[in-house]
Amino acid sequence: LLRRAADALAAMGVGEPAFRVFERLQALSARKAAAMDGPLPPAFLRVLTAGSSNAETFVEQGRKAAAEFHRLACDWGRPLSPRDRVLEFGCGCGRVARWWLDLCPARFDGCDVQGRLIDWCAQNLRGEYRLTLLDPPLPYEAASFDLIYALSVFTHMREPGAVAWLAEMARVLKPGGLALLTFQDDRLPAAAALQPGLSETGFAVRRRGAEGRNLLAGYFTAEGFAARAGPGLELLHVTPSDASAQGQAVAVFRRRAGV
Ligand SMILES: C[S@@+](CC[C@H](N)C(=O)[O-])C[C@H]1O[C@@H](n2cnc3c(N)ncnc32)[C@H](O)[C@@H]1O
Repeated sequence: LLRRAADALAAMGVGEPAFRVFERLQALSARKAAAMDGPLPPAFLRVLTAGSSNAETFVEQGRKAAAEFHRLACDWGRPLSPRDRVLEFGCGCGRVARWWLDLCPARFDGCDVQGRLIDWCAQNLRGEYRLTLLDPPLPYEAASFDLIYALSVFTHMREPGAVAWLAEMARVLKPGGLALLTFQDDRLPAAAALQPGLSETGFAVRRRGAEGRNLLAGYFTAEGFAARAGPGLELLHVTPSDASAQGQAVAVFRRRAGV
């Protein structure tokens, strides 16, 4: 029902302001969270990050996502040591990072375009957190990272943004480094309404909204996502959305050397 309401409001051109009100209302009506391990971000930050204020889901989805990213990193890469460097691109208020940090000893950086989310991470989680801009470049040197992961960030971009950010992932990855990036694929039920355009072009937008905010919902085919990655990234593997623990497809790219 909420998804249909968001679709209808977006079609009427008032999607973004209505969605902001909806996000605030969700946070205000949040149930009190049960006591849990580790610091829990306030309800509004959980809404901005996860699209819901539910604390238990926030914790559980983050745990599953971190475990899946870690497994993919081990399967397609090499074990990471404290000398290696990992970036979470679009880290929100640390839904995944809070678990990732226990799984991987590498040095950790997180970045996001929303200052209040970055501030919460910096005050509550281990790692370096930076507020970044909606457009590239990131404030990191070329070839800085051994691994980058991003959950539900390319999901909220238009096509030019996705192309530019995929190129930026390639720039900041070391040769041989991995990028684990989720995207909404054509196996998700909501993608049916976007056919045949989605299959023809490899990308379609379902709900229009501000770039980088959760109302905007983009979908790719696996081939379409890979095609927009450019020559610097080689696609090694895609876990489709219906086989992923994250509810979105996960693409595993490797940074090509010398490109
Ligand atoms: C749906 S939330 C997911 C947050 C986090 N990855 C998670 O799954 O818990 C999308 C996040 O991506 C961030 N974001 C969107 N566009 C971005 C960009 N161009 N650069 C960095 N962060 C971005 C948003 O601010 C938001 O925190």
